[in-house]
Amino acid sequence: MLKTHSLIEPQDLSVEEIEELFTLADDIKNRPGLYINACEGKLMGTLFYEPSTRTRLSFASAMNRLGGRVVGFSDPGSSSVTKGETVADTARMLSAYADIIVMRHPYEGAPKVASLYSDIPVINAGDGGHNHPTQTLTDLYTMHTVFGRTSDLTVAICGDLKFGRTVHSLIQAMSRYENVRFILISPEELRVPRYLRQFMKDNKVDFTEVEKIEDAIADCDVLYMTRIQRERFSDESEYERLKDFYVLDGEKMKLARENMIVMHPLPRVKEISREVDYDPRARYFRQARYGMFIRMALILKLLEVGYQPKQTRLTPTKYHCKNPRCICNLENEPQQMMEIAPNEYRCLYCDYTVHIEE
Ligand code: CP
Repeated sequence: MLKTHSLIEPQDLSVEEIEELFTLADDIKNRPGLYINACEGKLMGTLFYEPSTRTRLSFASAMNRLGGRVVGFSDPGSSSVTKGETVADTARMLSAYADIIVMRHPYEGAPKVASLYSDIPVINAGDGGHNHPTQTLTDLYTMHTVFGRTSDLTVAICGDLKFGRTVHSLIQAMSRYENVRFILISPEELRVPRYLRQFMKDNKVDFTEVEKIEDAIADCDVLYMTRIQRERFSDESEYERLKDFYVLDGEKMKLARENMIVMHPLPRVKEISREVDYDPRARYFRQARYGMFIRMALILKLLEVGYQPKQTRLTPTKYHCKNPRCICNLENEPQQMMEIAPNEYRCLYCDYTVHIEE
């Protein structure tokens, strides 16, 4: 059984637990008939406060293929969120109706808040520009399927590394595997956030930073392309300036190894030319399909953990999170700033770090 009640960030699962999920996902893929009633009588609540194609529909497909049912919303405008209901109260309500919650929210830390008040497991399906752990499971499962391993790999990650939540989760998850090297490709303005840079230094992660695809493509086993995240920019002109910074095309693919693969969490905009879709090294559509199998495995494992009554009553800490995109500032959740070094504080919900001098 998994040790965690909810999946909020990639480190909630150990490397061994992820291996168990791979084994189960392989079996589901190979022998789907064995699992068609595995979730009979179980109900999933999908709370999508932000648009989604893959994550929402792959979770719904996964639950239906396991014989379970799905309720929820994909438009928060049709829910009592419009009347001011908080994430905490919405999670309490779903605990009364369903067996497992899948939540996507534009504010960072929202699924964490839900997990503190929910009696049933909560799965983070993407929180703002912070984390997307089930995309990471999808990504790791793709590497496991293609290479037979998730270690001994050079992974080049290209695009919006500042706001790309899939990037943040992938780096944290893969930093635990042996001999993994990252080449981070981004413009100066879209480099990884401070807390993640510190995480990589603290964990002695091997990483280099470059600006051009051509500086990395010949050296990598995986080229992980990402979209410039328009919805996270506060300045539209900045987005317009950066949106077409990267385009992976047939010419650049000529520089890559024969056995490398191109991944992308999708949706893509223009960062991968359509001609690349026909290159056998392009794996992004199959990657999305693998996401359904690994989510089926995750649902089964979290439902084993099941119902755990919660009576959370948090005491607010002295200092406040300064991230305007953090759920604690939207919904007046008790502030939870943890001291991580002298005068350095990190928000429990969104990982934003602040330096505070007395
Ligand atoms: N990869 C991913 O999260 O896609 P969606 O936004 O369509 O769910």
